[in-house]
Amino acid sequence: MRILVTGGAGYIGSHTLVELLAAGHEAHVVDTFANSSPEALARVRQLANRDFGFTRADIRDGEAMARVARDFAPEAVAHFAGLKAVGESVGKPLAYFDVNVGGTVALLQALQAEGCRRFVFSSSATVYGDPDYLPIDEAHPRRTTNPYGRTKLQIEGILEDLAVADPAWSIALLRYFNPVGAHASGRIGEDPEGIPNNLMPYVTQVATGRRERLIVHGDDYDTPDGTGVRDFIHVVDLARAHVAAAEWTGRGAGCEAFNLGTGRGASVLELVAAFRAASGQAIPVTVGPRRAGDIAASWADPARAARVLGWRAELGVAEMCASAWGWAARNPAGYAGPERNPD
Ligand code: UD1
Repeated sequence: MRILVTGGAGYIGSHTLVELLAAGHEAHVVDTFANSSPEALARVRQLANRDFGFTRADIRDGEAMARVARDFAPEAVAHFAGLKAVGESVGKPLAYFDVNVGGTVALLQALQAEGCRRFVFSSSATVYGDPDYLPIDEAHPRRTTNPYGRTKLQIEGILEDLAVADPAWSIALLRYFNPVGAHASGRIGEDPEGIPNNLMPYVTQVATGRRERLIVHGDDYDTPDGTGVRDFIHVVDLARAHVAAAEWTGRGAGCEAFNLGTGRGASVLELVAAFRAASGQAIPVTVGPRRAGDIAASWADPARAARVLGWRAELGVAEMCASAWGWAARNPAGYAGPERNPD
């Protein structure tokens, strides 16, 4: 299929692009490089050994989106472009509503005008808030505590309304749990700007000496070792779920949600222990206070994705840590620095 990938230079977008190209699909990327690098796309081209189109444009630019939709005539869209820092969203809510919600509406208008009605959306398990029960299935009530989460909820609502208004739309809402890890080559991976908010990029920066120690945000939760428990999912598994979902939009109809996780939780200390084992690095740790807004535990019931999409996660925490370390050791300064060849 011809698939338009917004935010294709980002962490999950770039890994998905590799898997789409490997599966024989024809891709066109739209990105502003607001929080990503052209180098990621150059490396995807090398890894896939295939080319794809690219337009540097903002999803809020309706004319640019209309042009891309007209010229490339996508059969389906994988929509990753957006802002994603929870803390930042609290201070800059309007930027989040403008880029995430406004940008998605502008993109959808262009697609509707050009007759493309297959859409795969990057949603998040954050739409479940502090869960009522575990594992979390797709019927779990949705709620949120911050503007970033609200943009995900609002976009899900917009897409649900669109599918009611026009049954020709076929939409997959992919609710990601905690994506970590990198491509097995170590050539693409997660490259956050500034001090990482999320656990795995922080751990890899401790491993490469960019940060001194990991602060564990609380060890007094009601979990087996007191630290937070999350459903970490390998980004390559997540990327393959997008291929399955994009293909499903050609068969499915309406707007359907899918949890993307492994179905298993691992604690912060378990992840750190697995990372030490995979990397041979020490990873000093200090326990600090809880982080505001954090929940104790979250893991997915991924049965629906298995049943409907025919997808399930195959890679475990050991592979997540080994690949995250592979990327960090080869690219200690991310895409900005020189690439080291450890071979
Ligand atoms: C966070 C976001 C969530 C977003 C997701 C993307 C918050 C509150 N939630 O989820 O909306 O969809 O990222 O992956 O930011 N931890 C430490 N030390 C650190 C960093 C994290 O102990 O330096 C702990 C956290 O307290 C948590 C676990 O590691 O228990 C995972 O944290 P993180 O990677 O930030 O993911 P979430 O909080 O689950």
